[in-house]
Amino acid sequence: MQRLSSCKIGYPEEWESTVIKMQSKMKFLTPDEAKKIIEYLSITRAKNDDIVDEIEIMDNAMKKGEKLFNDISLGNNGKSCGSCHNDKQNSLRKKAFIYPKYFNKAKKLVNLEQRINYCIMNFMEGEALKLGSDEIIILTMYLYSLL
Ligand code: HEC
Repeated sequence: MQRLSSCKIGYPEEWESTVIKMQSKMKFLTPDEAKKIIEYLSITRAKNDDIVDEIEIMDNAMKKGEKLFNDISLGNNGKSCGSCHNDKQNSLRKKAFIYPKYFNKAKKLVNLEQRINYCIMNFMEGEALKLGSDEIIILTMYLYSLL
């Protein structure tokens, strides 16, 4: 039988033994068909691995966002987001999902990033974060994780 390890794309070793078992027991796959299936599964697996990577990246971003949420360096009055938005006080649970939203104080529709900047400028004596910056991204990621 042709060694499956001649496939160009990597695949886990256990698959090779699975396919060998399938072949010896059922005999309905030619080595070539088995190879094609393995290749196909490897591609699918590669995609799944990418998703796992993405989840890890997002998870890390949320954790970094949580740290920044509790960091007083975003403002100049010794307050962090967490000083006002802990669980008991003005909780931000599920709030991220209601944006964009009409904001009375600004008399316009604002997105979550702009709403965060409003708090930084008005409640923390800080400077607005640049939209699209790492800081604003990880903060919004963290707010989306508050369910
Ligand atoms: C000194 C207190 C204070 C700090 C610090 C503060 N906020 Fe706020 N925040 C408020 C108050 C009060 C409101 C609601 C009242 C209002 O809209 O003026 C609010 C509202 C919000 C809302 C809108 C919630 C809704 O119901 O739509 C978001 C989002 C938010 N804050 C995020 C943040 C983030 C992120 C930070 C840190 C960068 C932060 N806030 C820092 C006091 C604060």
